[in-house]
Amino acid sequence: MPSLIAPSILASDFSRLGEEVASMGAAGADWIHCDVMDGDFVPNISFGQVVVAAAGRHTPLPLDIHLMIQRPDRYLEEFLPSASSITYHLEAHHNAETTLARVRASGKKAGLSIKPGTPLDQALPLLGRCDILLIMTVEPGFGGQAFMPEMLPKIREAARLRKDLGLDFWIEVDGGITVKTAALCREEGADIMVAGTSIFKATDRAAEIRMLRG
Ligand code: DX5
Ligand code: ZN
Repeated sequence: MPSLIAPSILASDFSRLGEEVASMGAAGADWIHCDVMDGDFVPNISFGQVVVAAAGRHTPLPLDIHLMIQRPDRYLEEFLPSASSITYHLEAHHNAETTLARVRASGKKAGLSIKPGTPLDQALPLLGRCDILLIMTVEPGFGGQAFMPEMLPKIREAARLRKDLGLDFWIEVDGGITVKTAALCREEGADIMVAGTSIFKATDRAAEIRMLRG
């Protein structure tokens, strides 16, 4: 099955954010991925709700908001109006179950993300309560890192559990996604490919998105 493609604006030219975001629709992207970092949960600061809302004004595409912040529960209300989906980390300091329920109650898609070192087992009790499972394929915090092939068995296991338990969450992968690694993830059952560097640095972004889709 062809994948959904979510370009990460972290790799875009922020001085021309509106144009960059707008160009993704024409290039064939499905969602726009927004990486919010607080300098605490991850060792980097990116942007917050004001920038996400501004990006949203330049595209009709759904905004897929990835909160790499220590207290997602404190900022949920501020991100919800711009969001189509909100994903936050199991490892952050909050009650993941309550946060998932709050996102779903708002009518938006609720995503749960796990870092490379977090076993899938820890997310197991929540898989029936989320719409998206985001499996990080690099350590969160920076774009441009190399894909971790040791995450492929985790994707396979998530797809197996989904089938065995009769669940229907999407499996999203994020970090080091290129045409080659996207194909590997797709083979294991991933549905949504987040890609920053490979799309924004491509000479032909539309062709890159087509190839990433598979
Ligand atoms: C990493 C972010 C990713 C990142 C992906 O913490 O969550 O979304 O922007 O960037 P690339 O595709 O460059 O690895
Ligand atoms: Zn991300």
